[in-house]
Amino acid sequence: MNVDGQHYRTLWTEAHAGDVTAIDQTRLPHQFQTVTLGSLEDAARAIETMVVRGAPLIGATAAYGMALAMRDHADDAALRAAYDRLIRTRPTAVNLRWALDEVRGILADLPPSARCDAAYAAAAEIADEDVAINAAIGRHGLAVLEDLLRAKPGGGPLNILTHCNAGWLATVDWGTATAPIYMAHDAGLPVHVWVDETRPRNQGAFLTAWELGHHGVPHTVVPDNTGGHLMQHGQVDAVIVGTDRTTATGDVANKIGTYLKALAARDNGVPFYVALPSPTIDFSVGDGLAEIPIEQRHSFEVTHISGRAEDGRIETVRIVPDGTPVANYAFDVTPARLVTGLITERGLVPANRDSLAALFPDRLEK
Ligand code: MRU
Repeated sequence: MNVDGQHYRTLWTEAHAGDVTAIDQTRLPHQFQTVTLGSLEDAARAIETMVVRGAPLIGATAAYGMALAMRDHADDAALRAAYDRLIRTRPTAVNLRWALDEVRGILADLPPSARCDAAYAAAAEIADEDVAINAAIGRHGLAVLEDLLRAKPGGGPLNILTHCNAGWLATVDWGTATAPIYMAHDAGLPVHVWVDETRPRNQGAFLTAWELGHHGVPHTVVPDNTGGHLMQHGQVDAVIVGTDRTTATGDVANKIGTYLKALAARDNGVPFYVALPSPTIDFSVGDGLAEIPIEQRHSFEVTHISGRAEDGRIETVRIVPDGTPVANYAFDVTPARLVTGLITERGLVPANRDSLAALFPDRLEK
């Protein structure tokens, strides 16, 4: 995507077997800065502290974390240690495990002397594959949006509600939920996006709004609880969200609050789509509610809020009374029955086991 006329991915290497550069997402939307990841520990901490975030980008960063580890030490013990360090960084997004398994699978049978180059090549392939997958999701999603627009009485604009940031910043490029939106906008379709602010970390207000603004896509940020009201008044034509892990049966884990949007959508007859890259499918899990680990993050994210003061300084202030207990569940699970369709890189499918298995037999076998 373009920022001030220059094309950026969210993550790249400057040179063969070199350091990794990432956009520091903890500084957006106030500052556009990059950060250098020069070691396994840098990569692991970037994921933990959400310098990089979003399921596909977590996977790509972890893959490069393996490469950075192999650059320092490439024996079997180092390979095990790198995998074990990275897999602990965030529990819900399954792209992390998928990417680590891919890289480890390639390296395990190689002599240590060949592992560094192979790890960089594998990480680059994962990053490139992510871009291609998201572009394909964009094309399939665009067809969905075109159909919705054709069916809309009175024509556009098509109002799409999204939650969290499943955009360019959550992936290597394009985004998942935003790819169809960018393609529709670029094709001249009238689209407008309702952006849930997405407390507590405000990925919608901070990141999605920043991205859409840079791309010129009309959008409006709304507080998290507004979506139901908008749907009751016919102001949402479709919901499109991303996912951190989708089960073999089509249950969808995504940012906390997604489930409530799906309920409101069902009550109001609004289609609820999930943009789903295949590395986010966990074919080993059937029951999302029982089996997907839900990350619980630090209470600080709820008790405090950050923003830019009038004088330009970034300030963090407390908004909850001292000593008040808080809960900070980062994700929830939307049951498959509430999902209208999964927009994958191979097309739109219903959220159920048979459809996913038929579309991705190659992933199923792994
Ligand atoms: O906690 P985050 O910011 O990593 O959560 C991100 C989301 O929930 C996204 O919707 C999901 O990862 C899909 S990104 C294409």
